[in-house]
Amino acid sequence: MLSLFGSPERDAHRITTSMNDRFLRACRREPVDCTPVWFMRQAGRYMPEYRELRAKYTLLEICKKPELATQVTLQPLRLGVDACILFADILLPLEPMGASFEFAKGEGPVIHQPIENRSQIEKLRVIEPHEGLGYVLDAIAMCKRELNGRVPLIGFAGAPFTLASYLIEGGKSAHFAKTKRLMYSDPEAWHLLMSKLSDVVRLYLHAQIKAGADAVQLFDSWVGQLSAADYCEYVQPHVRGILQDVMKAGVPVIHFGTGTYSLLEPMRDAGGTVIGLDWRTPIEDGWRRVGYDRAVQGNLDPTLLFAPQPVLLKHVDRVLAEAGGRAGHIFNLGHGILPETPVENVQAVVEHVHKMSAR
Ligand code: CP3
Repeated sequence: MLSLFGSPERDAHRITTSMNDRFLRACRREPVDCTPVWFMRQAGRYMPEYRELRAKYTLLEICKKPELATQVTLQPLRLGVDACILFADILLPLEPMGASFEFAKGEGPVIHQPIENRSQIEKLRVIEPHEGLGYVLDAIAMCKRELNGRVPLIGFAGAPFTLASYLIEGGKSAHFAKTKRLMYSDPEAWHLLMSKLSDVVRLYLHAQIKAGADAVQLFDSWVGQLSAADYCEYVQPHVRGILQDVMKAGVPVIHFGTGTYSLLEPMRDAGGTVIGLDWRTPIEDGWRRVGYDRAVQGNLDPTLLFAPQPVLLKHVDRVLAEAGGRAGHIFNLGHGILPETPVENVQAVVEHVHKMSAR
């Protein structure tokens, strides 16, 4: 029987047209009905439903079971965000490359045998994504099915400097002294390590796009530790190789770092459809320097989510004002949501961004 609203084809069309694509439109600097918003670490410990699942499974178990990773990826939808980021971790590729690690309670990641010399770098395997990371690709396919077009899915990988810093430091670090010692004292070994990581990351991002990711983000979380000159010499060629190649796949690529005030131009030159700005760089200033031919993402200070709501929302207004209603702004934090963040404040930010930026 013909429905009142026409054929199944038309219904399918209705589903497509109702897809919330403001995030993808903003990445392409197209006009949007209001500014899209999502958060780095939007699925995590600040959410009670995540903590409940984490009481039963370890972080790696959740990452490695596509059903669980999908469930967690979709948890933040209730907050009204305009994109989901796949639940995984930047360190996952290190294990199949030959560097095993664990997430130790209260300590963060611990690499079992940190890299100290060239022979360890030579032994690292440049893996194909299907070899050892198939569970991530399966999770992407499952997330896409479950999302059913509600919002786009963002895939991601760590950038080679940030991954190298974990491999060399063995975990988190204050000064990155071991990383820089290797970089300065054995540049050949350094570039070999960066090339191997870059090959893995490049193939991994392509595979994520093929599996269904609608956009990808490259996390260079700790690259702000470098001077612009060192960035250009030791990092930029590798990141450029990744980004220029992945951008050919035709989906938006977000290039993110923190503490990058002095690196914005060389990071932009390395590539990215969207450039991430942290809270230390005013959007007005950052966007002018990056150039209006790129979209920008950011940049609320994550700790503002602990402030009383009137203060928090005043700062949200300031971020929106700095972006000036220009097409191509994606609202986000300058870095990830912190574990103790009140959920209601995250939700208030989403609603406020949508309301105040409605065109
Ligand atoms: O953003 C998301 O919601 C997607 C999931 C995601 C995780 N890690 C899950 C995770 C993403 C995008 C990451 C990226 C990641 N992982 C980065 C780059 C982004 C950033 O924050 O700078 C880095 C540096 C890592 C490495 C890592 N993973 C660290 C340092 C830690 C420990 C941090 C801590 O707060 O304890 C992790 C663990 C991790 N990865 C958690 C989550 C949600 C903590 C949650 C838990 O233990 O259950």
